Amino acid sequence: MKITYLGHASFMLEIAGKSLLIDPFISANELAKDINLDELKPDYILLTHGHQDHVLDVEVIAKQSGATIISNFEIVSWFAEQGLEGHPMNFGGEYTIDGITMKSVVAQHSSVLPDGTYGGNPGGFVIWDASSCVYIAGDTALTLDMQLIPQTCPPLDVAILPVGDNFTMGYKDACLAADFVNCDKIIGCHYDTFPPIEIDHDEAQAHFANQGKSLLLMGIGEQAEF
Ligand code: NI
Ligand code: MN
Repeated sequence: MKITYLGHASFMLEIAGKSLLIDPFISANELAKDINLDELKPDYILLTHGHQDHVLDVEVIAKQSGATIISNFEIVSWFAEQGLEGHPMNFGGEYTIDGITMKSVVAQHSSVLPDGTYGGNPGGFVIWDASSCVYIAGDTALTLDMQLIPQTCPPLDVAILPVGDNFTMGYKDACLAADFVNCDKIIGCHYDTFPPIEIDHDEAQAHFANQGKSLLLMGIGEQAEF
């Protein structure tokens, strides 16, 4: 699969010939000003939770692409009221479409939609096809539930974990999360966008390297293949 970083916790995944957009927060992210929103035409938009820094650009992108929103029941219902199509899931469930399987997994965080509507429980996704598998943790603390992932999903090729601290786990806990999910290749997200989540890149990457793991901090717009 091909993964493109769009800033903050937003990624485009190309897998099994389809494109999956994760948590789009682009138009208000000064760091992502080189990303052209009009060019984003995903087949699916996956949302981990309802916070503004994960759903801001959903409406615009869903309308221009006709993408199906995949998230929890509360978030899918909220977007349905705006006339957008969705597929609801909840924890423990797998959904397979177009040769891609998505599993809804637990996150420890909170979730409210931008207008104050209850956003259901925050979650993450494990996503795989016949040849590759990725874990997208969403905003979360380190949690023992992550240990279930290697027991219930195919082996991970890469895990996308928040590393910015303050609102989510920081990089030290993310390094432990890498052990829990049995994956040495980590892509960091949810860092540097706002002052409370700025991190020292060298320090974070050295921490992972010292434990035989790699922390990839992608440039915005950069692509990586797994
Ligand atoms: Ni959040
Ligand atoms: Mn967030």
